[in-house]
Amino acid sequence: MQLFDTHAHLDLPEFEKDLNDVLQRCRENGVEYIVNVGIDRESSLRSIELSQKHSWIFASVGMHPHDAAKLDEETFGLFKKLAQNERVVAVGETGLDYYRNFSPREQQQEAFRMHIALAKELGLPIIIHDRDAHRDVLKIVREEGARDVGGIMHCFPGDWKMAKECFDLNFLIGIGGTVTFKKSVTLQEVVKRVPIDMIVLETDCPYLSPEPLRGKRNEPANVIYTAKFAAKLRGNDVEEFSYHTTLNAKRLFKI
Ligand code: NI
Repeated sequence: MQLFDTHAHLDLPEFEKDLNDVLQRCRENGVEYIVNVGIDRESSLRSIELSQKHSWIFASVGMHPHDAAKLDEETFGLFKKLAQNERVVAVGETGLDYYRNFSPREQQQEAFRMHIALAKELGLPIIIHDRDAHRDVLKIVREEGARDVGGIMHCFPGDWKMAKECFDLNFLIGIGGTVTFKKSVTLQEVVKRVPIDMIVLETDCPYLSPEPLRGKRNEPANVIYTAKFAAKLRGNDVEEFSYHTTLNAKRLFKI
């Protein structure tokens, strides 16, 4: 088995005590690559640190839409510097979260546009977070020409119609533990129909553990549960499905 967790937050305090065990379990379960995704200044720095310690972990630099209000000029300057590090393979996570609205919407939009500009300047793909903001996310992706670099719609939140729009905009869909939840009928429909070269796997750990571990702390090794569930839905062999999703991620991140 060859798996790629395209969205992990191993720098968070939830992993402080047993990160080595967590990484060991990755190796035992076929997780060969991880992108650790920055959500603010500190976590972007720690993502790079982590990627420098482990050759199979890569980093992404960005400010989560929750904290978009904190993206001042100085921090953006730092991001610009950090994103040029050879271990950084993407910009994000960025995007819009109209569910929680922890940062004012205008500031989220402005920060999102800035991230896209940075990604285009450096030729890096973008990791997008979209919660209850489909219309504005796609609008900004279009207006800013994010298609040039593409990326991932992380924890894909939409239906098949939106999935097709994302493909047209050069974005892959990221599928995590939520696909295994009974209620995720719309997402399951998307996973059944998505072309095999347009899907990648993720955990978003420590959040969103797949069934049968729902509610517990998530970790990259659990991406296997999502792979098995999604492969079965699609009628794919799990090894073949994992191989392709890993290949898609490697291609996107130029690994
Ligand atoms: Ni995340």
